[in-house]
Amino acid sequence: MQQNILTLIYLIASVTFIVGLKMLSHPEKARNGNLIAAAGMTLAILGTIFLYKDDAGNTLHNYGWIFGGILIGGIIGTLAAKKVKMTAMPEMVSLFNGMGGACAALISIVEFNHFSEVFTKPGWSEVPWNLTGNMIGHLLTIYAGAFIGSVSFAGSVIAWGKLNGKIKDFSFKGQHIFNLVLLAVIVGFIVYLLFDLNPSNYKLFYLIPLLSLLYGVLFVFPIGGADMPVVISLLNSFTGVAAACGGFLYNNKVMLTGGILVGAAGTLLTILMCKAMNRSLKNVLIGDFGGGNTVTSSQSKTGEIYKEITVSDAAVAMAYARKVMIVPGYGLAVAQAQHACHELEKLLEEKGVEVKYAIHAVAGRMPGHMNVLLAEADVNYEKLLEMELANDEFKTTDVVLILGANDVVNPAAKTDPTSPIYGMPILEVEEAKMVIVNKRSMKPGYAGIENELFFHPKTSMLFGDAKNVLQQLISEVKTL
Ligand code: TAP
Repeated sequence: MQQNILTLIYLIASVTFIVGLKMLSHPEKARNGNLIAAAGMTLAILGTIFLYKDDAGNTLHNYGWIFGGILIGGIIGTLAAKKVKMTAMPEMVSLFNGMGGACAALISIVEFNHFSEVFTKPGWSEVPWNLTGNMIGHLLTIYAGAFIGSVSFAGSVIAWGKLNGKIKDFSFKGQHIFNLVLLAVIVGFIVYLLFDLNPSNYKLFYLIPLLSLLYGVLFVFPIGGADMPVVISLLNSFTGVAAACGGFLYNNKVMLTGGILVGAAGTLLTILMCKAMNRSLKNVLIGDFGGGNTVTSSQSKTGEIYKEITVSDAAVAMAYARKVMIVPGYGLAVAQAQHACHELEKLLEEKGVEVKYAIHAVAGRMPGHMNVLLAEADVNYEKLLEMELANDEFKTTDVVLILGANDVVNPAAKTDPTSPIYGMPILEVEEAKMVIVNKRSMKPGYAGIENELFFHPKTSMLFGDAKNVLQQLISEVKTL
């Protein structure tokens, strides 16, 4: 009876994970989706703690340890989540993901210890020892969990350090080859210990998590800081797979479902991000793309000079427009100008202007960066247009106001086959009647390349920090 109730709880929890995940794909439902999945997870955890029985009928008894751990983890997690700034979200996600990887690796280590207890029993050497198919399957799951979980843990911690600036990019000549050799050594160990585990070599198992930790560190170290969101998403999928290994080990269906969902979602997100940037995963992992470039040009390749607009002229152009489209980018997040942006939007609407936002999938530095940022400022999500819809509407837009975006509006993606962003889908802002670009200088964005848009006859530059400029625009619009 007890087991049937637990099975039902696992089924309900699995359904909440799927429903929650589905709801995450819409800003209006995302918060509730998160709560539903969290409720399912709570139910699954409590069900396991109080209803689980192993084959011999043993229940869990170490409640002090279990609830002590839940309490400490719960308090730390809650405080960290309350304190974290929106811009520091990717690093927090990375750290949490690393904890998941560490858990999965520890599960494998504990289970290996159980498995290998037999080697430490007296008289062991007289017992004939043959690994059966079932044992090999069990061992493979243990090794896979230890390997993938350790890589995910070490990689996520390095990613966390790189995102918050505590760890600098590091690489040495031939590192990619070294990484491949290290990977081959780990896989070799796994294969060897899979078929020939015995009392003389079983302690070699601990080399699997140790070498995997080293691999995780070396794998993430050379990747450019701004590529970290893609890597975190990839590591997230690793953690999911490692957790699924735990589900196999314990024959726990909800853990298996949860792990597979995380693994699949992380993989899909990685693919989507790469697609939106028109870069292969290989290029993200071992390529040298963008970041750190400080080329500054006041002239386009063909000799055109950019033109500037004053704050008051920009305010007039927008206040008397019929339709204004705002294009937010990484610079808006840096300036923390989302609230000022929303205020300008409301002022313009009071003047009868229709205002919408054009959101590129990889604007900013993390998935959904602009959606999260604008939601924080209470911008109505109905006003946020995804790229395809926005591109349809630029033709009927009078003024486009670009706030700290660069690569995602760079026409080179369509016109210059030699450009590193060639093929990346972009916001076609030049279709509008007038384009105002706000940024602080003529420096390039993440991809480190010049942007012809800035020299386009329809474009005017409005230099300055996004928050500052928006505050000035607000004051000007109020006087009109
Ligand atoms: P970027 O191309 O990086 O351009 C941002 C611009 O903001 C810069 O040119 C910078 O110019 C300006 N800026 C910086 N601080 C500012 C401030 N305080 N006020 C005003 N402007 C400021 O940004 P984007 O157009 O959003 O494109 C995102 C890029 O990141 C893409 O190349 C994408 O592939 C990459 N990426 C995105 C993700 C995700 S998941 N979103 C993940 C990895 C990589 P100044 O220095 O002159 O001000």
